[in-house]
Amino acid sequence: MSSAVEAALSAALKAIAGAKDLDDLKAVKIAHVGDKSELGKASQSLGKLPPEERAEFGKVVGAAKGAVASAYETRQQELELERDARVLIEERVDVTLPYQGSLKGGLHPLTILTNEISDLFIGLGYRVAEGPELESEWLNFDALNIPVDHPARTMQDTFFVEPLAARLVLRTHTSPVQIRTMLENEPPIYVICPGRTYRADELDATHTPVFSQVEGLVVDRGITMADLKGTLDYFARSMFGPDVKTRLRPSFFPFTEPSAEVDFFFNGRWVEWGGCGMVNPKVLQACGIDTEEFSGFAFGMGLERTLMVKHGITDMHDIVEGDIRFSQAFGTGSR
Ligand code: PHE
Repeated sequence: MSSAVEAALSAALKAIAGAKDLDDLKAVKIAHVGDKSELGKASQSLGKLPPEERAEFGKVVGAAKGAVASAYETRQQELELERDARVLIEERVDVTLPYQGSLKGGLHPLTILTNEISDLFIGLGYRVAEGPELESEWLNFDALNIPVDHPARTMQDTFFVEPLAARLVLRTHTSPVQIRTMLENEPPIYVICPGRTYRADELDATHTPVFSQVEGLVVDRGITMADLKGTLDYFARSMFGPDVKTRLRPSFFPFTEPSAEVDFFFNGRWVEWGGCGMVNPKVLQACGIDTEEFSGFAFGMGLERTLMVKHGITDMHDIVEGDIRFSQAFGTGSR
């Protein structure tokens, strides 16, 4: 009997010593110490032995199990150390690897353009004026001589804001800032007003309900249409290059007289840029400006259109949707 135990013991010790990893060792334990193993069966047989044999055999089995248990524990510790050392190497983090960094915040291309235009006009002695986007209907329309029945005043074009009795609109153009500026300042006035404007359009490749304009207003002594044309030429050349041509086409705006559309010739075609004209004397007078002494010009153009033509952007969605891949082409959001 005891020789069978000895054989089982040496087989178990050999298997434990040969276990390659912790999983292997667990399998060895089941095979050599489990209920169905030789040692297990020897343990179970103890109860069936006559009492005089039981004590002697019990010692042999107990000693064998003790030897297996301590060999098991030793091997387990060795294998755990090996595993920990391996994991340290396998899961090592190389802190010297080049760091990708996170994206830096940046300006939207429209903001970059707005800053460029502001710098340009500040260089000509203009001031940058601002006004609210939620504007009184009076400043957005009435003060600009836009009659009550003008089509631009309908709900289809204008966002009226509740309560309607407050007569507030999301400004449909930057021209109300002309009025604010003239009410608050004495001429000479040289301002531009870049800003967000709103009209009830669907978003498509060329329209967006939230868009941007830049308004220009000059009121001084002896201002003529030639000053307007010269300023627009300078503006256009700064935006689109020294060879760009501009033209004025007769048009109508209630707040300018005479009025014109300004186009520029770029990449072989005429592009509509905005509206302009000599400030209507009625508007100047309503703002308390002496029209015997002063005259002025104003212009207003779309910034999205300017950005699109300047950079060959064909879809308005790119400008409004905020996809970082679009802005990155303008140096925005670099690492
Ligand atoms: N406010 C006009 C528009 O939005 C443009 C404009 C500005 C025309 C200034 C004349 C003078 O259509």
